[in-house]
Amino acid sequence: MSLQLGDIAPDFEAETTQGKIKFHDWLGNSWGVLFSHPKDYTPVCTTELGYTAKLKPEFDKRGVKAIGLSVDALGAHEGWSKDIEETQGHAVNFPMIADADRKVSTLYGMIHPNASDTFTVRSLFIIDPNKKIRLTITYPASTGRNFDEVLRVIDSLQLTDKHKVATPVNWKQGEDVIIVPSVKDEDAQKLFPKGWKALKPYLRLVPQPKN
Ligand code: BEZ
Repeated sequence: MSLQLGDIAPDFEAETTQGKIKFHDWLGNSWGVLFSHPKDYTPVCTTELGYTAKLKPEFDKRGVKAIGLSVDALGAHEGWSKDIEETQGHAVNFPMIADADRKVSTLYGMIHPNASDTFTVRSLFIIDPNKKIRLTITYPASTGRNFDEVLRVIDSLQLTDKHKVATPVNWKQGEDVIIVPSVKDEDAQKLFPKGWKALKPYLRLVPQPKN
């Protein structure tokens, strides 16, 4: 069965462009974004890795470590990194796992044989500091992912872990949030003393609490 939300992200040892790692030790107390791409020296992947490198300050601000993976060997990752820096203007500043033996991609279900029995699909996992999987997405090889959306989900997860709120459609930092249904109005008064806007009894909007 595939990995599901709330599962512990499986631990593994792997060779990466930043040396050998034991995944859980490498994560430490950070959040993690583990993502696979189909192949080195391919155009869409080149843009994804360059953009992820550009976002490093945003990941750092949120206490998140990114790590990429493909079934290519270490030498290919290293050679391709130069192209990524040249064409995308950002040097890859996070480890890339060399999963030539497919150990990690098999563990995480990143190979979907009916899409390709050779390459990994575009899988992405957000992992919290307790090593729990909090988001999974899978994109086809032909469609680059939206890493701004990945950051937006991390913002939502970090906020909703701390406060009894949920984030509405297309929510972004600073916008109103929703009081979770399990909080009764009497308790909501204590948590949100300035009040809320109830569009329906179950749809109560409050300004975003400080994270
Ligand atoms: C790419 O990253 O550009 C790509 C990889 C595999 C198939 C199609 C596109």
